[in-house]
Amino acid sequence: CGIVGYVGPKPALEVVVDGLARLEYRGYDSAGVAVLSGGRLETEKRAGKLANLRAALERTPRTADGIGIGHTRWATHGAPTDVNAHPHVDNDTRVAVIHNGIIENFASLRLELEESGCKFSSETDTEVAAHLLSQELRERGDGDLPAAMRAICRRLEGAFTLVALSVDDPDLVVAARRNSPLVVGRGEGENFLASDVAAFIAHTRDAVELGQDQVVELRRDSVVVTDYDGNPAQVREYHVDWDASAAEKGGYDYFMLKEIVEQPRAVADTLLGRVGVDGTLTLDEMRLTPADLRDIEKIVIIACGTSYHAGLIAKYAIEHWCRIPCEVEVASEFRYRDPILDRQTLVIAISQSGESMDTLMAVRYAREQRARVLAICNVNGSTIPREADGVLYTHAGPEVGVAATKTFLTQLVACYLVGLYLAQVRNLKFGDEINAIIEQLANMPDQVERVLATVEPVRELARSLADSETVLFLGRHVGYPVAMEGALKLKELAYMHAEAFAAGELKHGPIALIEDGLPVVVVVPSREGRGVLHDKIVSNIQEIRARGARTIVIAEEGDEAVRPFADQLIEIPAVPTLLQPVVATVPMQVFACELALAKGNDVDQPRNLAKSVTVE
Ligand code: G6P
Repeated sequence: CGIVGYVGPKPALEVVVDGLARLEYRGYDSAGVAVLSGGRLETEKRAGKLANLRAALERTPRTADGIGIGHTRWATHGAPTDVNAHPHVDNDTRVAVIHNGIIENFASLRLELEESGCKFSSETDTEVAAHLLSQELRERGDGDLPAAMRAICRRLEGAFTLVALSVDDPDLVVAARRNSPLVVGRGEGENFLASDVAAFIAHTRDAVELGQDQVVELRRDSVVVTDYDGNPAQVREYHVDWDASAAEKGGYDYFMLKEIVEQPRAVADTLLGRVGVDGTLTLDEMRLTPADLRDIEKIVIIACGTSYHAGLIAKYAIEHWCRIPCEVEVASEFRYRDPILDRQTLVIAISQSGESMDTLMAVRYAREQRARVLAICNVNGSTIPREADGVLYTHAGPEVGVAATKTFLTQLVACYLVGLYLAQVRNLKFGDEINAIIEQLANMPDQVERVLATVEPVRELARSLADSETVLFLGRHVGYPVAMEGALKLKELAYMHAEAFAAGELKHGPIALIEDGLPVVVVVPSREGRGVLHDKIVSNIQEIRARGARTIVIAEEGDEAVRPFADQLIEIPAVPTLLQPVVATVPMQVFACELALAKGNDVDQPRNLAKSVTVE
């Protein structure tokens, strides 16, 4: 979910709704605002995208008294309806509350509140917080909203950011944070809060990051942060250097289109300052010392979604370069199976947002088991890197399109850097192969640029397949996770049945799916060093083509062996096998994006998905 709060002289409603527009990628199945207007608490909320809320606000114009809060929701408890949208108010309409996260003990609290006479109007866990706050204020009798917030937070279990305002204090927004993100923006005679700086960088770039279990009191002229007991708390102040326009669409119809073409820059930025001219890698920010890294006996990579696919590819590279056993697992499964971890295990948590709750919980579990945790994240200062022992940031810049593109490529680069660095500090295979790879890695921005210059036929192909019901993807070696990522993109964006198989597994079942005209995308490994694999996949292509499949083959340029069996040949630059995913993924992204556009889908905000999933 996305949260915005404002206190100051500007039209509060506008500031809040504009902030929500910048946060819509965090969840967008409903949106709402609460303002004080002529001393009265007024709310407006609507299911669906922000446009619905804007339309409702236009129908009932109101002036706000310089204070407001707003929310875009990704439903957890209760369907995405008008009633379940935030803010939620108490029975006397004196306090309004918005919330990101899940209140795990809401059922017992709701029962208790209902017994004491509270009437609930929604199915949400959040409404519990509104009634509790109101009850606490009534009992206290002193109108001290921050104190009441601190008191109720002590009773809530789960992960949340809560934001509240009250008719009794027209210059105060109070927020509490546990696990879910919350940042304050400091202005002149005005202050902001939001789940992400994107909401307020048009107004201020001075930010304050809230810690775990803290409460902030936001007034026009002050920002006071305390812990749940009311003691002053330590916070980190920082300056946001993201360019505001970097988060805009830059002339494209969709953020995703812009983010795909930004990939060469994103890859270059992620390499920047890390690869020396002599091939030495500098990754000091990782906070893990060479001694720590020499100690590692096993690596476990945890991640979700697209980040998981980056992890699968990393395994091939790390095991090959470092000879350290490496497992990869989806974060939501990891901690529930009693994994074997110890001090000699390096857990690498890959997360674009740094906020995925599944990954965060897995990180916490790994640390409890004394494993060392390295985060690979794109959002600076987000929760996962803050809780990890070390971090390597991908420098992709903000990614607004829900389906990951440029952050995936930069995750791959970050994983390669970690693998190569490990090989260097452990003096393993350190020599010609590693040096050659580092040199090739430094060339990847140009290689990605070359792919982008040649994808027009992929767009045409995608449009011609808009009526297909199923697309299959095949790959071997690192091409297999690339195929998985291609299938995921198609599911996310085009809402199509898309499935990836290891090409060698085809004969063990999936080949039964092949029928006349079925599009099958095949990722062909580089010929370099892996001739056997290459030849095997050429046979696989022939097998499916003989059974009627329409073969769409992604292969390196000059690969004449595949040409006779490819109904469509998509050529990519020849690069070392382990780096091939960086170039092979790009046509898949373009394919899925264009196919989805041909179907009329919103590629930035696909249905049912959220960019950052902060619930388990
Ligand atoms: C969500 C997004 C995916 C993303 C996944 C992991 O499901 O829709 O695109 O890959 O979360 O996100 P993370 O921020 O942890 O990389």
